[in-house]
Amino acid sequence: MPKMKASLSQQFNPNLSRVQPTPIRVFDNQASQIPGIVKLTLGEPDFNVPEVAKQAAIESIKDNDSHYSAGSGTPALREAISNYLKKHYDLDYDATTEIAVTIGATEAIYAALFAIIKPGDQVLIPTPTFPLYEAVVNLLGGEAINLDTSNNNFVLSPEALQTALDQHENVKAIVLNYPSNPTGVTYSADQLKALADVLADTNLIVIADEIYSELIYGGQHTSIAKFLPGQTIVLNGASKSGAMTGYRIGFMAAPAELMKRLGMVHSIMITSPSDPAMAAAVPIFDSEAGHQATLDMKAAYEKRRDFLVAALHDLGFGVATPNGAFYVFAKLPAKYGTDDEAFATKLAQEGKVTVIPGSYFGDGGEGYLRMSYATSMDNLKLAVDRIKNMLNN
Ligand SMILES: Cc1ncc(COP(=O)(O)O)c(C=O)c1O
Repeated sequence: MPKMKASLSQQFNPNLSRVQPTPIRVFDNQASQIPGIVKLTLGEPDFNVPEVAKQAAIESIKDNDSHYSAGSGTPALREAISNYLKKHYDLDYDATTEIAVTIGATEAIYAALFAIIKPGDQVLIPTPTFPLYEAVVNLLGGEAINLDTSNNNFVLSPEALQTALDQHENVKAIVLNYPSNPTGVTYSADQLKALADVLADTNLIVIADEIYSELIYGGQHTSIAKFLPGQTIVLNGASKSGAMTGYRIGFMAAPAELMKRLGMVHSIMITSPSDPAMAAAVPIFDSEAGHQATLDMKAAYEKRRDFLVAALHDLGFGVATPNGAFYVFAKLPAKYGTDDEAFATKLAQEGKVTVIPGSYFGDGGEGYLRMSYATSMDNLKLAVDRIKNMLNN
């Protein structure tokens, strides 16, 4: 195997030293080596891809749908996404000029931040949150400003937003993720409106990561784009709602003038997404069968959430019922202190259950554990029994 020439180590983009492999994966990989471990770590659906989507992908392959596609995605998928945004969230985005299909929401996050951030620019990021945003900001030479929301039920208040704006001069964007990974908390329409009222007086671009928008329990998802269409980039995709993380289909929606810039980054970076994957996503966004498959998965998640929240409560964890996504963010019982990493390590090694330490999700996550219920009810029951055993010993 070739070894890299030693003197090349000085040749790289220095911003690379500002990012590390995500500790979530590192922790999960280590814990996964423990024989018989039950994993509550997965950030992806445990369901199979709905039949209607599989068939669409098969048809696409049979039809020799195998050429470079339009850079912003097939017209059929962009049309489906446009219909979906209108039908589900009452958002108006033109399929030709205001929507681009990306390689998962991940690429959309990168393209959006790349189009906005130059070295030294600041980005507001309410935390705890998905660590990718900060990693991308760092890679671009920007500065991520964590806004700890743990004292406000994991929701950014308009007052805290205003304070952050008063304190920082170079803020170009804010990233909002709701329903949230890792807390499962989402924002009500009123809460979003209150933030929008503050942001309307600024030139900040709002990056709204709504990848879990279909997984809301007992309520309606509202997009901040409803209140702030002129300065919002909506990010979403089929990964969670269609249980198709491996197909890598996401999208961005924004006003045409904004989309032009995003599209530039996107087309230079990826040319176009894969045809069969795009074909598979069409019925997820815009068919009865696809929608029903999402609703069925949501019903299963909701039952698991109710079981896990009640069980954790009985075990002394502080846990408010999350109303979206598939995560519970549980506060350690007081007698265990706030060292979430130590507790999660002990739980993996002795209890044979793996969860993700809350501190991996940024300021405000210390003393919490993220547990994913994107796993079977049997696994959840086993995990709860094992946690109980460990706490009792
Ligand atoms: C909040 C959030 N945004 C984006 C992503 C990435 O989505 P995708 O798999 O579509 O790239 C994830 C994945 O876990 C996520 O939790």
